[in-house]
Amino acid sequence: MSLYEDVFKNNAKWVEEKKASDADFFEHLSKGQNPDILYIGCSDSRVTAEDMTGVEPGQMFVHRNVANLVPNNDSSSASVIEYAVAHLKVKHVVVCGHYFCGGVKAAMEAADLGILNPWLRNIRDVYRIHRDELNAISDEGEKYNRLVELNVEEQCVNVIKTAVVQNAYTSTGYPLVHGWVFDVQSGKLIDLNINFEEKLKDIQEIYDLGTGK
Ligand code: CO
Repeated sequence: MSLYEDVFKNNAKWVEEKKASDADFFEHLSKGQNPDILYIGCSDSRVTAEDMTGVEPGQMFVHRNVANLVPNNDSSSASVIEYAVAHLKVKHVVVCGHYFCGGVKAAMEAADLGILNPWLRNIRDVYRIHRDELNAISDEGEKYNRLVELNVEEQCVNVIKTAVVQNAYTSTGYPLVHGWVFDVQSGKLIDLNINFEEKLKDIQEIYDLGTGK
C-alpha cells in the first residue's frame, strides 16, 4: 500500500473517530469557523501546524509558505491576514519559523535557485538588517538558528505594518502578534516573547498609517 492510498484509508478512520466522540462533529463544522488564531508558518512537512499545537478543526486559520514569509507586496499572505483579522476577528497572529529550515539555509548559500531567488531574497534582507549581530556569531549552526529567529521577528514586523492589523488593534486591542520557533530536533515550540506593544510603537515611527488618530 502506498502512502498516497493510505491517505484515504486514514481519512475514513479519522471520520469514524471524530463521529464516535461527537456524532454531530461534521454537522457543526459545516456551520462555519470561529478561529482565535491565525498561524503563518513554513510549508516544511515536519512542521505540522495543527498537530504540534493540538488545535481542533475550526480553531486556527493557517497560512504556510516557504520559510514563513510575509513579504510587503505578497497578496497571498496579505489576503490571509486581511480576512483573518478583519472578518474572522482572530485575537492572535502567530508567525512560526523552525530550526533546520531549508528555505533559510538556501538563502544563506551562494546559489541561483531560479524563481526562488526573489522569494528567498526576503531572508537575505533580514540578514542585511541584522548583519552585525549575525556576522559576530562564529558557529555556523548558531548563526543559522539565529537567522531563523530574526526572520520570524522581521515577518512579525511585516504583519504589524499592515493597515488591517493597526486598525483592528487600535479599535479592539486585538490581534496580538507573536513570534514562535519550532525546534524540529526536540519537537518543542518556543515563544520568542516578542514585545508586541513595543514593536508596534517602534515601527509606527515610520509605518504609522494614522490608525491611532
Ligand atoms: Co522551513
